[in-house]
Amino acid sequence: MTKPQLILLGAPGSGKGTQAARLVSELGYQHISTGDLLRKEIKSGSELGQRVQGIMNTGGLVDDDTVLELLKSNCDLESTAYIFDGFPRNFDQAKALDSSVLKGVESRAIYFEIDLNMLAARLVNRRTCTGCGEIYNLLSKAPQLSDKCDKCGADLMQRKDDNEETVKTRLGVFKEAIEPVLAHYKAEDRLGVIDASAGADEVFDKLKEITR
Ligand code: AP5
Repeated sequence: MTKPQLILLGAPGSGKGTQAARLVSELGYQHISTGDLLRKEIKSGSELGQRVQGIMNTGGLVDDDTVLELLKSNCDLESTAYIFDGFPRNFDQAKALDSSVLKGVESRAIYFEIDLNMLAARLVNRRTCTGCGEIYNLLSKAPQLSDKCDKCGADLMQRKDDNEETVKTRLGVFKEAIEPVLAHYKAEDRLGVIDASAGADEVFDKLKEITR
């Protein structure tokens, strides 16, 4: 395995999912998003999905053990270079990622730094393709037809947690927990920081530079 595992850290709406998709198609990583895994559980109607639905819709965090188990059962580090997106979100998750998932495998964390005041507008204007998962934004990356994907023609949807009230909670939860996570990676010299307020192309260029 030549590429280090990548851990994307950043507030809701900072662009982690957008950049992860580009890293997958251009650099051959595999994307693993705990938010996507949890949404899949909700969609499937599983017991786990029913349990977490309310928490996610109000913007709180699902308990650490549940998310860790879900992550572990969906990744295989022996054969794959991953982009971890949405995990860790607090110090305990950062420690757990090291001790029970990475287990000494080389990894780098990248923090998407951005003024949180910029993010509500990004999030309430996000639309996601129900077919291929392409991420749009009505302000900065509008689809040609407001409700259809340019790439595959499937319907676009708005995430349930992308409303102003829930976004406020999600940003608050992020703000409370992020500092010890950053300190953890910084102390181990595993932290890179990018300016996530720039345009998506510029952010991707920087990302490529620091993951080289
Ligand atoms: P999750 O799905 O992980 O959501 P999130 O962290 O809130 O992040 P987002 O997906 O909202 O943002 P993003 O950074 O990927 O932004 P994107 O690229 O789409 O988590 C959802 C929920 O699941 C949590 O609230 C929690 O309940 C639960 N959960 C998940 N993981 C958990 C964990 N580890 N522990 C406990 N609970 C967990 O971009 C956003 C918008 O901005 C898009 O419209 C995009 O087009 C636009 N955009 C992107 N980049 C730019 C740019 N450079 N300039 C302008 N616009 C841009």
